[in-house]
Amino acid sequence: MVNTKQPIPGAPMGLSGRDFLTLADYSASDLSYLIELAHDLKKKLKFGEVIQPLQGKTLGMIFEKSSTRTRVSFESGIYQLGGMGIFLSTNDIQLGRGEPVADTAKVLSGYLDGIMIRTYSQEMVKELAANASIPVINGLTDVYHPCQVLADLQTIEEIKGELKGVKLTFIGDGNNMANSLMLGAAIMGMHISIAAPEEYQPDHTITEQAAEIAAASGGKVEITSDVVHAANQADVIYTDVWASMGQESEASAREQAFTGFQVNSKLLSMAQKDVTFMHCLPAHRGEEVTADVIDGSHSVVFQQAENRLHAQKALMTALMG
Ligand code: CP
Ligand code: NVA
Repeated sequence: MVNTKQPIPGAPMGLSGRDFLTLADYSASDLSYLIELAHDLKKKLKFGEVIQPLQGKTLGMIFEKSSTRTRVSFESGIYQLGGMGIFLSTNDIQLGRGEPVADTAKVLSGYLDGIMIRTYSQEMVKELAANASIPVINGLTDVYHPCQVLADLQTIEEIKGELKGVKLTFIGDGNNMANSLMLGAAIMGMHISIAAPEEYQPDHTITEQAAEIAAASGGKVEITSDVVHAANQADVIYTDVWASMGQESEASAREQAFTGFQVNSKLLSMAQKDVTFMHCLPAHRGEEVTADVIDGSHSVVFQQAENRLHAQKALMTALMG
């Protein structure tokens, strides 16, 4: 089917009307623009300025998996921008009873100005986007979590003052977070090192794509199973759960496989002195990270979580404005 999405005249940087399915579709200047806008919207909110470019606009938020941050930050974000969000659990809408994705996309395009979806399959999100005439935002699939990484890039820039050249080390499962961090870091010219057990390393195709992007941006992508090597000189150490949503039955096997991949104070001491600890949350203290690290002075996990609001307000303004 022909994609009927038309850019809305006057929108910044040609982002208007676009989908946000994977960071790989976005350039460094697109992401820099979104991060700048996020910084600006954050500052304005703190000063009590009311910015409502999305008055009268509606975002449908489809959830097939649980969420705290994504749901609340999108819903509150669209409200702050003058619009409204509609929470659509797949338990309640006909999509969950087998209505075709393409039909759902066409129907929702007649009511809404944007769709945010959290589900399992990236292919399903692509199909939804291909059949919708409004922007579709990926709120997490098994493969990617681009909204989280947009907020994380904003957070790293706030703390380190820049992104280019920053060494970001991800320790743990080569999951949706690892994939999106790899792409985001590569686009922004960062050095990303991922330490994971061999059988849990990120998808090969995505790693190659990120390495190609990094070759052009001046960044670097490294995959290893050596946590000490990965932590060495790290400016940022990031981790995520060992068993993601949908992998609950693998939890105990994964706990075994990830022994030695816990972020603890010993690992942190191998990085730069001013290392920043990050986690997308929800976290399992005592598994992928110790309580003293996540609740300690290097941790910025709640700043990251807050920035979901500002980064997604920037995203909705650019895409739906
Ligand atoms: N980090 C994140 O996406 O959190 P939620 O699962 O609570 O949305
Ligand atoms: N990797 C985690 C991220 C949660 C925000 C999951 O998919 O469950």
